[in-house]
Amino acid sequence: MEIIIQPTAEAATRIAARVMARLLREKPNAVLGLATGSTPLQLYRELAQMNLDWRRVATFNLDEYVGLSPQHPESYHNFMRENLFQHVNILQKNVHIPDGMAADIPALCERYEKEIRAAGGIDLQLLGIGTDGHIGFNEPSSSLASRTRIKTLTPQTRRDNARHFGGEAQAPHHVITMGIGTIMEARHCLLLAFGGKKARAVAGAVEGPVTAMNPASVLQLHPRVTLCLDNAAAARLKMKQYYRWVFENKPEWQKF
Ligand code: GLP
Repeated sequence: MEIIIQPTAEAATRIAARVMARLLREKPNAVLGLATGSTPLQLYRELAQMNLDWRRVATFNLDEYVGLSPQHPESYHNFMRENLFQHVNILQKNVHIPDGMAADIPALCERYEKEIRAAGGIDLQLLGIGTDGHIGFNEPSSSLASRTRIKTLTPQTRRDNARHFGGEAQAPHHVITMGIGTIMEARHCLLLAFGGKKARAVAGAVEGPVTAMNPASVLQLHPRVTLCLDNAAAARLKMKQYYRWVFENKPEWQKF
């Protein structure tokens, strides 16, 4: 794992933006796995300002709430439209987000997996992390081999999300999410985490055992993972001095 610790979320985001921009310049038909939540908001703003060509880019979002239509203000369809897609020249036909209103969810999930494969697989999967270590919406106890499917959110995640829905009672219980096995097939995983609330989950993911109780810890088994953290999210990492030294002393050819 490459662990990049920056003083602020802004600085960590700038590095993530450079990684993504480089991919889009080197591979104009790149396949991106995209994430939602507050963490990637600034990254999307930066990418939108970078004058990149998105015409041949295909995207697959990690997840969506069951029961929310694409027009619902809190749906991830709406989130992506407002925060990224309407600001870049991506073609609607290349955008993929699970449909929270699908009548046949297992069929939709199977189709989603097929579409990812047909697109050639995901080149770069952007990830946030839940306070319980979830990636996508793969909650603790998710199978580390899981594929796209329906999941039930934990009380902790519903509490974390309550602010978007005017209270916990209204927060959805069910979601459709790419599985952990699906995420692990991406060629590069780029995980962003900011703020002290994420410090425990980050420490478990990087330095804890690989366990379904912290789904992000499975990334230890992935050959190419980059974490962009601010100081607060890195606070509980035992080896943080080492990670900082590694980043600051990279050979020239490895620099971002
Ligand atoms: C939701 C999303 C995740 C995201 C997480 C963290 O659960 N499904 O993809 O990583 O929230 O959200 P935030 O970035 O707002 O802390």
